Amino acid sequence: MTVRFGGVAALSDVTFEAQTDHITSLIGPNGAGKTTLFNVVSGFLRPHGGDVRYEGTSILGLRPHQVAARGLVRTFQKTSVFPAVTVFENVMIALHTQGTAGVWDILRGGAKVRDEEARLTARAHELVEIVGLAYREGDVAGSLPYGEQRILEVAIALAARPRLLLLDEPAAGLNTGEREELIALIARLRSEGISVLLVEHDMRLVMGISDRVVCLDHGRVIAEGAPAVVRVHPEVVRAYLGISDGDEPSSSDQRTANGQALAAGGDTLTAER
Ligand SMILES: Nc1ncnc2c1ncn2[C@@H]1O[C@H](COP(=O)(O)OP(=O)(O)O)[C@@H](O)[C@H]1O
Ligand SMILES: [Mg+2]
Repeated sequence: MTVRFGGVAALSDVTFEAQTDHITSLIGPNGAGKTTLFNVVSGFLRPHGGDVRYEGTSILGLRPHQVAARGLVRTFQKTSVFPAVTVFENVMIALHTQGTAGVWDILRGGAKVRDEEARLTARAHELVEIVGLAYREGDVAGSLPYGEQRILEVAIALAARPRLLLLDEPAAGLNTGEREELIALIARLRSEGISVLLVEHDMRLVMGISDRVVCLDHGRVIAEGAPAVVRVHPEVVRAYLGISDGDEPSSSDQRTANGQALAAGGDTLTAER
């Protein structure tokens, strides 16, 4: 795909593949084109050239809700959680938008609605359990720590029955403990048969859980493959040597440290913003 903003080519002939049952991660310095690519795949942005194919069929030109209906569901960096209702109710609300009972069924009440309600209730408990928030089920969502609210967002996305879940910087703003929980959750999703496309700054998170990593720089794919291969790829190390994650310019010493950490395994790479 190719996307231009005025004279700037945000994506230039970018080709990549996210395989079923894989966690595929998109990495790259700020401005590399990650968010733009995500917006194209999820139907929020029409590319100037190229195609997006899902399970063999082009999904180009579909609206975001049509893309979601096909099983490609994304989370947003902006929170989609309703703060004033409980964790359980948040998931129920998300499930209700998927319900099969029509307006007349609901007005009439009766067996179909009761069956549907029982089914959704069971599913809501199940989703809360899957993401590890069962102990928080009755708590008002707004009272949860930020990290747990982000995890609740994943449960809300799961209500839409994704087969490919697109996660947009899910670790942004999380502390170390919360990141560990998120990593475990993403790994669990894969074992539930959900493929994941992850855009993430946190190199340690990405390298730890990805089956495949695609690195963008200046709108082009500069490296792709297994984490161990991409991590030490000279182009990737060079791209990250120059970056300052976020708006704070880092010292050249810090940049060198980032590059060396990346080559050494990424464990100490600072990706905080
Ligand atoms: N709506 C927009 N209008 C103009 N330029 C944009 C817009 N969105 C992104 N860009 C530009 O496209 C490039 C890629 O941006 P983006 O996809 O946000 O990168 P990343 O998510 O990797 O940081 C950058 O040069 C950015 O300034
Ligand atoms: Mg971005």
